[in-house]
Amino acid sequence: MSPDRILLYCRAGFESECAQEIMDHATENGCTGYVKAQKNAAYVEWVETVPGDAKRLHRSVAFESLVFARQWFLSLPMMDNLPETDRVTPLLAAFRSLQVRLGHLWVESPDTNQGKELATFCKKFTAPLAQRLRQQDLLTKTQNPGRAWGHAFFLDSRRVFVGYSTADNRSVHHNGIMRLKFPHEAPSRSTLKLDEAFLTLLTEEEREERVRLSDKAVDLGAAPGGWTWQLVRRGLFVTAVDNGPMDPGLLETGQVVHKREDGFRYQPKQPVAWMVCDMVEKPRRVADLMATWLVKGLCRQTIFNLKLPMKRRYEELQSCLHRIQGKLEAAEIDYVIRARQLYHDREEVTVYIGIC
Ligand SMILES: C[S@@+](CC[C@H](N)C(=O)[O-])C[C@H]1O[C@@H](n2cnc3c(N)ncnc32)[C@H](O)[C@@H]1O
Repeated sequence: MSPDRILLYCRAGFESECAQEIMDHATENGCTGYVKAQKNAAYVEWVETVPGDAKRLHRSVAFESLVFARQWFLSLPMMDNLPETDRVTPLLAAFRSLQVRLGHLWVESPDTNQGKELATFCKKFTAPLAQRLRQQDLLTKTQNPGRAWGHAFFLDSRRVFVGYSTADNRSVHHNGIMRLKFPHEAPSRSTLKLDEAFLTLLTEEEREERVRLSDKAVDLGAAPGGWTWQLVRRGLFVTAVDNGPMDPGLLETGQVVHKREDGFRYQPKQPVAWMVCDMVEKPRRVADLMATWLVKGLCRQTIFNLKLPMKRRYEELQSCLHRIQGKLEAAEIDYVIRARQLYHDREEVTVYIGIC
């Protein structure tokens, strides 16, 4: 059997944005299908109506370009009524029908309260299923990143989606979630957002080339200093702009200057390598500020959050990104832009822009 749909995981509550995004890509690539999405389910299905279109769409779109999907894979229709006494046999048959030798197996569930209750079940189920897949030569002995990876995505103990993701076009993390340990010395939990952004939105090469010891950075809306802490940890010297108080420990590092100023007015006297911004403001206002810094050459790289409004979140995000792109293009600036709703984000999307 050939997969006839793409399953996309997202943050619970963002199914409609995830659906709009994949529909836009389908339209752009001339793929015909429809979306099945349920509010707060934390996943979305894109179902082909023309055979082969799910595979074509999956091949045509780079996973990294998706903002709202944490993971995606080519899937068979949902299997329900799995027998409680032997779930492995029907799953084996499903994997065999895909005719793909897998380099790894993920047994997963939606990132919802109900899905989390399945975590132990998924963990326990992984070894027996992997063993049987190996016996049938459907799964390599050791993890192989160059091959398709199998996914069994359980909605409950009787309903599951089975399919595979392809090499270099997926998240390598279980459930598409990058788990990071909170560093206890950091002044706020939002430190994880910037850490995840560096790890997700920049390649390893870019991190080496673009984040250099002793570079100068500005953090707009810095207090109490979770993001500044990440910059300091990476060896940067930071001007932290915020009317609120900064963590005293950070100021003692000698790498931080605190300016109690308005982040929308502050401008550095000399250009800096990095500007990051986590101010809670209308996304359009933040987008325009970011474009101004880049066009004026005040920074070469930026990571910032766009807090999404209550309604029309997808449209608002698109409009903000287009505004920035329009201004950079008008100024004939070459750039890369990547946007993603990170695991540590809530009602926001994180954007990286680097001048080439
Ligand atoms: C979400 S918090 C930032 C948290 C910070 N990134 C961290 O990791 O600790 C938002 C901050 O933006 C600041 N802020 C909001 N509007 C601002 C403005 N116009 N100028 C400077 N700071 C502003 C607030 O004072 C607040 O401290």
